[in-house]
Amino acid sequence: MSYEKTQEVLNQTVADLSKASALVHQIHWYMRGAGFLYLHPKMDELKDQLDEHLDEFAERLITIGGSPFSTLSEFDENSKIKMTSATWDKSIANRLSELVIAYKYLTEQFTQALEISEKEGDAVTVDLYTTALGDIEKTIWMLEAELGK
Ligand SMILES: [Fe+2]
Repeated sequence: MSYEKTQEVLNQTVADLSKASALVHQIHWYMRGAGFLYLHPKMDELKDQLDEHLDEFAERLITIGGSPFSTLSEFDENSKIKMTSATWDKSIANRLSELVIAYKYLTEQFTQALEISEKEGDAVTVDLYTTALGDIEKTIWMLEAELGK
């Protein structure tokens, strides 16, 4: 059984989750305004969740014979999640909306990855994506609820 496409998509996920984690960290640091006291620690929670999934995906990739991206430039070059230098003038709502966009991108990637790993018969990877997709979708619901959407 060849897992060639699954390996590719797992590496895409390694880059995307690394970048998403950096984005959450930036929001955690640069947050100012009402809601700080609960949203600042919430970002730590989200970052831990992303990092845990990242480690699972990277180690699955190694398990099936692949080589995960591991440098900051590889993460940056291979992920489509956008980040810019931080400023202090963005509202918390604005930052959370940016996070929702990044998380929605992750759900699209994970959905495609699910199909690819299913086609190649990699049930373990299918399971990882199913779990991660559930977590990301739930977080989108919570972020949008916080935004009043
Ligand atoms: Fe912190």
